[in-house]
Amino acid sequence: MKTTPGIAIFCAIAFATTVGATDSMSGSDVMSPRRVFNKGWLFARFGPMPDGSIKKEPTGMERKEFYDGSWHKLDLPHDWGIEGPFRADLPSSTGKLPWAGIGWYRKHFRLPASEKGHRLFIDFDGAMSHAKVWLNGQYLGEWPYGYASFRLELTPGVRYNRENVLAVRLDNPPNSSRWYPGGGLYRNVWLVRTAPVHVGHWGTVVTTPVVARDSATTRVRTEIDNQSSDPVEIAVLVEISESGKTTAVAFAPETIVRIPAGGSGRCETSIRIPSPNLWDLKSPALYSAKTSIRQKGRVVDEVNTIFGIRSAEFTPDRGFLLNGRRVPINGVCNHHDLGLLGTAVNEKALERQIRLLQEMGCNAIRTSHNPPAPELLDLCDRLGMLVLDEAFDCWETGKTKNDYSTLFKEWHEKDIRALVRRDRNHPCVIAWSSGNEIREQLDGNLSQRLRAIFLSEDSTRPVTAGCDNPQAGFNGFQNSVDVFGYNYKPHLYAEFRKANPSKPLLGTETASCISTNGEYLFPVTTDKLKGFSDFQVSSYDLYAPYWATIPDVEFEAQDRNPFVCGEFVWTGFDYLGEPTPYSDDSSRSRSSYFGILDVCGFKKDRFYLYQSRWRPEQPVAHILPHWNWPGRIGQITPVHVYTSGDEAELFLNGQSLGRKKKEPYQYRLRWEDVKYAAGELKVVAYKGGLEWATDIVKTTAEPARLTLSADRTVLDADGRDLAFVTIKILDKEGLIVPTADDLVRFRVSGSGTIEAVGNGDATGHESFQSDRCKAFHGQCLVILRSSEGKGGQIHLTAESESMKGGSILITSKSRKAREH
Ligand code: GAL
Repeated sequence: MKTTPGIAIFCAIAFATTVGATDSMSGSDVMSPRRVFNKGWLFARFGPMPDGSIKKEPTGMERKEFYDGSWHKLDLPHDWGIEGPFRADLPSSTGKLPWAGIGWYRKHFRLPASEKGHRLFIDFDGAMSHAKVWLNGQYLGEWPYGYASFRLELTPGVRYNRENVLAVRLDNPPNSSRWYPGGGLYRNVWLVRTAPVHVGHWGTVVTTPVVARDSATTRVRTEIDNQSSDPVEIAVLVEISESGKTTAVAFAPETIVRIPAGGSGRCETSIRIPSPNLWDLKSPALYSAKTSIRQKGRVVDEVNTIFGIRSAEFTPDRGFLLNGRRVPINGVCNHHDLGLLGTAVNEKALERQIRLLQEMGCNAIRTSHNPPAPELLDLCDRLGMLVLDEAFDCWETGKTKNDYSTLFKEWHEKDIRALVRRDRNHPCVIAWSSGNEIREQLDGNLSQRLRAIFLSEDSTRPVTAGCDNPQAGFNGFQNSVDVFGYNYKPHLYAEFRKANPSKPLLGTETASCISTNGEYLFPVTTDKLKGFSDFQVSSYDLYAPYWATIPDVEFEAQDRNPFVCGEFVWTGFDYLGEPTPYSDDSSRSRSSYFGILDVCGFKKDRFYLYQSRWRPEQPVAHILPHWNWPGRIGQITPVHVYTSGDEAELFLNGQSLGRKKKEPYQYRLRWEDVKYAAGELKVVAYKGGLEWATDIVKTTAEPARLTLSADRTVLDADGRDLAFVTIKILDKEGLIVPTADDLVRFRVSGSGTIEAVGNGDATGHESFQSDRCKAFHGQCLVILRSSEGKGGQIHLTAESESMKGGSILITSKSRKAREH
């Protein structure tokens, strides 16, 4: 199936206008058509409380006059679960955090009388979950799916020059998720102001039916709502420019549209773009389509739609083609939480994740198993990352008692339409997934119906689903999707192709290897179901649950079956909840072991296995395990090497332990019978006979000092920017001590605060909001947040008993209001 879409992101200006608990908008603020509405909310929890007690939910909290003076004041995005505490009695599968319960948010705001006559809307990017919304006591509407974006209209009930109160009730029933879902208004909220005649919600659709290097054809469809009481005649103008540039590269002739009072109209126009810059992984060129609505000669609405020009095609025999070129999908599945930050969306944290994945050679993300935050797609557009955009984890038949199956009948169509309308203009989105391991894989009936809904909103992209039932590739289900997705079935790729020669195939979920960063257990067993002890999993990357495989098995299946479009590894990052193999509730564990990177974003050994495969041009050599085994002198201590070279020689204290060559379908080099002796382990990797890369691990001395390093040392003083500071425990030679687990204490001063602390230990029940943290295998993380409007230095110091402390200076710079 050939897909050649474009993309749309609405541009808006963000303003900070909180005055006490009432957000008061001046005329000029309100002039911006779309502004973030995150400041100065009031919050209270009811039902099951974080400490395990039950608090009765009073009635009448939607009323304007309800007294909320004692409520907690906060800014969005806000995840009420991540505040903890971790509780041993809560399910491991959902992170041992108190996310279940009822939460109310209220916001007081004023609008000037000069605003009368406009239409006013509130856009929620996501509200977890079962949102019900009131304005001044008047019910506006609801949207139960916590991952969906939705809009409600404020106009009829809003009062000008007087206080308004918006009230939102959220309810997270227990047993409603298989992982940590978070809770609250955890994504951005926007206030949108339009003229009565305006572009509809998600009302621009940009596709690129013809994509070539010398010329592309763009089609821009505009849906216009006439919310006035008169019929109107309007002119629609579209102008295309390269994103970030002001000069237009192409125009569409003006289109006249007549719309009855209270009705909607649409128009579509084709625009040729000469010599386009194609959107691609390394050069993600973006364009902007400016759609203007002119009524009686006056521009009444203007929307900028960001889009890209590219072709994307899933083929049954040549894999996935981007702009006509075969690009194996080297993807990861990710959950929506941001580790220590919980689910509260943060662009900088998302960007850090994407950049780390790209460093590994990853080129795609599957938004398992739900619609992502819009910011993720904006970033993927900008940074050149492909996205498989997924709708659901279940359909009619649920996986947990109170999950989406309770909503499916009434809401699935609305949720699919909301997802596709919101995301269909993003060039990064290459396919839709209607579901993950849904129970309805015995025939394709329901799947067909869902596919039809997707295609009615976007006919340019294929629909897939992640199937765990082996039969789904043969029983007819496979015909209900455009691209068939197998979860954990590398052994069936060849058989599938034989039976379905014209159906593209994708590994929608692969591997599910498990490991604890820095932990190695002996003896090293090759039984994938072993290699665990005391709630940790050995990092030899040989272990996986029964349904899953180690990475090497999937690599071989992909190499033997090059018609497969690629894979999405489970998972890029460790996430909160689902700590397989310690998922039962009696377990101490609260976060997963699946990640290639841990919850802090620290690279596990596996990072280098994937990097050596996905970036073959990059010289990679990586030795595991570490070499601090005083209790193992003379004992067999296997050494594995991940390299993008084809052979390597290992040396222990200068003595060669042999040169090994990768055999066909071999993805790591192993020296299985190394006898441990303290000292230096060195590998020299070769490619085509030439020296290619080296790695050294050394036995270290005792901890001597702390060192701090940040991913970024200059932040925006916008109250949202983050620096991720890694603290390492070093010995006197400057080597990281891989066994150190000392407690580190932090002090911060100046223009920022500590947002979270943590380490990669999946069993830790210490709060992420703290000024101290134990190191885990020699390191831990502090996330610093800039203070809003307060430029200057942020000074973080770290101290620990019996070693020298360290510090770091971060600069925070004030900027004018940022454009989102
Ligand atoms: C899959 C499932 C994922 C996750 C994974 C762990 O079956 O789709 O959500 O649970 O297993 O291996």
